[in-house]
Amino acid sequence: MVPAEPSGSAFRNAAESAELGTLLKKFRLQAGLSQQALAERALISVQAVSALERGYRKAPYRVTLERIADALALSDETRQTLEHSAQRARGPRLDDEDRPRAHNLPRQLTSFLGRDEVVQEIAELVESAPLVSIVGTGGAGKTRTAVEVGRRLLNRFPHGVWFVELAPLHDSDLVPRALASALRVQESPQRPLLETLLAYLAQKRLLIILDNCEHIISQARVVAGSLLRECPSVALLATRSRDPERYRGANVSDPLPHHSRAKATVAG
Ligand SMILES: Nc1ncnc2c1ncn2[C@@H]1O[C@H](COP(=O)(O)OP(=O)(O)O)[C@@H](O)[C@H]1O
Ligand SMILES: [Mg+2]
Repeated sequence: MVPAEPSGSAFRNAAESAELGTLLKKFRLQAGLSQQALAERALISVQAVSALERGYRKAPYRVTLERIADALALSDETRQTLEHSAQRARGPRLDDEDRPRAHNLPRQLTSFLGRDEVVQEIAELVESAPLVSIVGTGGAGKTRTAVEVGRRLLNRFPHGVWFVELAPLHDSDLVPRALASALRVQESPQRPLLETLLAYLAQKRLLIILDNCEHIISQARVVAGSLLRECPSVALLATRSRDPERYRGANVSDPLPHHSRAKATVAG
């Protein structure tokens, strides 16, 4: 007996239940692209393509998936299939979500007032873009809001939420050191600290809050750029003052692609 041809919807169901990595590889090969070529077109690292295809990374950011879909010129229907697969991986896993998460968020001695919608809005941005900046004047509540966002998102980051205070740093080379100290990463004698950090973070799904980036903006950007390129599941939430005085001398080219970030403003 000849088996019936799979109907359109049966095919779709089968495709939708497939793993993201399997689907991606299939679509990439159909487009005749190497991993390198796809990475170049989608402006992501070849390591990220490889991690996705091998299933090490199952829930990429929506913007990453959109860039891949654009690079592969996928139809709307195929895009949806990919997004559904990522959503299943992102979806709530209750037993996992209930687990207390590691963090070093500063304890607040006063209660947080109002701003529930702002916190929610920024929390949603953090979940959809790898770098979100909170910009506002001094005293407007940027740090406090960022900490609340981190608290709200604790359950979304299996490897925790880490607050890195950059304000006391006078030497911008200390940014990797401040990160290592917050994340409790040991420096290896033979290896640059940033490299050790990137290796540690490569497979982690965590949120790093960089508080007060303004005075060392150029180094913070370089470090943030490396993190976002090499550590595809790390999310960054940065606060910085918009006081223009502080930007003098910070005229560096920005290594981050524009579509990978979002900006929220906190008004005093
Ligand atoms: N929503 C809020 N509820 C209660 N206190 C707040 C709130 N937002 C800010 N604060 C307090 O106001 C002060 C200034 O806020 P902060 O976040 O440090 O400002 P910024 O980082 O923009 O300079 C801090 O003492 C902070 O705890
Ligand atoms: Mg602050």
